[in-house]
Amino acid sequence: MPRPDVLDSLVSLAKRRGFIFQSSEIYGGTGSVWDYGPLGVELKNNVKQRWWNAMVRERDDVEGLDAAILMHPRVWEASGHVSGFSDPLIDCKACKARFRADKLTDAACPRKPSKKPGEHTDCQLTEPRQFNLMFKTFMGPVEDSAAVVYLRPETAQGIFVNFLNVQQATRQKVPFGIAQIGKAFRNEITPGNFTFRTREFEQMEMQFFVEPGTDMEHFERWKQARLDWHLALGLDRDRLEFHQHTEKELAHYARAAFDINFDFGGTLGFQEIEGVHNRSDFDLRQHQEFSSKKLEYVDQANNKRYLPYVIETSVGADRVTLAVLVNALREEAVPGEQEGRTVMGLHPALAPIKAGVFPLTKKDGQPEMAERLAAALRKKFNVFYDEAGAIGRRYRRQDEAGTPFGITIDGDSTANDDVTIRFRDDMGQIRVSTSKVAEVLTTYLEADHPRADAARVS
Ligand code: GAP
Repeated sequence: MPRPDVLDSLVSLAKRRGFIFQSSEIYGGTGSVWDYGPLGVELKNNVKQRWWNAMVRERDDVEGLDAAILMHPRVWEASGHVSGFSDPLIDCKACKARFRADKLTDAACPRKPSKKPGEHTDCQLTEPRQFNLMFKTFMGPVEDSAAVVYLRPETAQGIFVNFLNVQQATRQKVPFGIAQIGKAFRNEITPGNFTFRTREFEQMEMQFFVEPGTDMEHFERWKQARLDWHLALGLDRDRLEFHQHTEKELAHYARAAFDINFDFGGTLGFQEIEGVHNRSDFDLRQHQEFSSKKLEYVDQANNKRYLPYVIETSVGADRVTLAVLVNALREEAVPGEQEGRTVMGLHPALAPIKAGVFPLTKKDGQPEMAERLAAALRKKFNVFYDEAGAIGRRYRRQDEAGTPFGITIDGDSTANDDVTIRFRDDMGQIRVSTSKVAEVLTTYLEADHPRADAARVS
């Protein structure tokens, strides 16, 4: 049985709570481009930070890079994007809809009653034509073909062309990797499903350069490491699977490729969130040929020189953020209450706001104490202070935002210098001395689903 489709409710919650807005909404929106609001930008930054820590900071064999979006146009000739980065496009002259020829059986004609493209009597489908997905622009003041440059459709090429710069600057020895996070642009024919397929998105890519012959053992290691990373984000194990590329799907230069798929539920189902590819020496060889610059690695210790093979891990920051939101969203009944609650059960380390700080009432020194505590916590955590409305309503708003802890200052707090910490997931509460709050939050931020009944407060 497919999992329920939560995308529609997620789109409305994302707008209402400030996770994600449609780009240029007041002008009717820009097709498949999205803006991250106050909660969304924190969430996506947390996803990116975890990737950077796991891939760069916690390793001594991967270096970071931030290459420019605009690159020399020859880069895209060498990479094959100018000649080959295209989808087959079919137009319908009757309803003006556009479809990908290779996905026609999954597509729906926009007219009612709902049918497949070509099934209405007056459908007029054209022959497929190749449509290049790269956005073109002009560099400099003259709009002629000599000045055409492209918005990069992937971040990987910035890494390939800098391979020797990074290797020589850092004196890394093969095997080693280069990682970067950055924007990529694709003029997708059939974007959609919220932020799943967009025209502007962010990639987190890492190219690991290895000696030919050792490539498959590195490939297997990275495949597992990347699955483990997704699990550590809190994605459910049974929503993740590997998909091995068949002979037909495999790019001509690739020796092996697996996608990590996540189950988005509904008709979307399992879809790629990351690709792990063995790209052989294709990219370095192409750039060596097109630039006429030697890109070989010199292994002085063993008196060898060669073009390294590349194991690539390529994941979309937006797509993983969407997976994290889909995975986290739940509606549940609350014992003893008529109204249920909406919970964004995010891993606490990813949550945009770590704690809500709430004085129970607006008197007896409670707001002052709560504001003092919020200001102290803000030095370490993103906290939200809220004194307006019923306490139950304030908790619910933070449940929806994914805030794992609610800290309440009540009548006893001012006398005893202690507070209540409420846990989002089980709604259980513990009493903690004010001076221990930061320590308790730190302890529980790394736990998948911290629960009040498991709390040990020293
Ligand atoms: N350098 C290899 C490469 O770019 P890809 O499979 O085309 O491979 C890698 O893209 C990842 O980038 C995908 O798994 C997905 O997470 C993300 N991605 C690709 N196209 C996207 C789009 N139009 N919108 C959002 N994310 C996208």
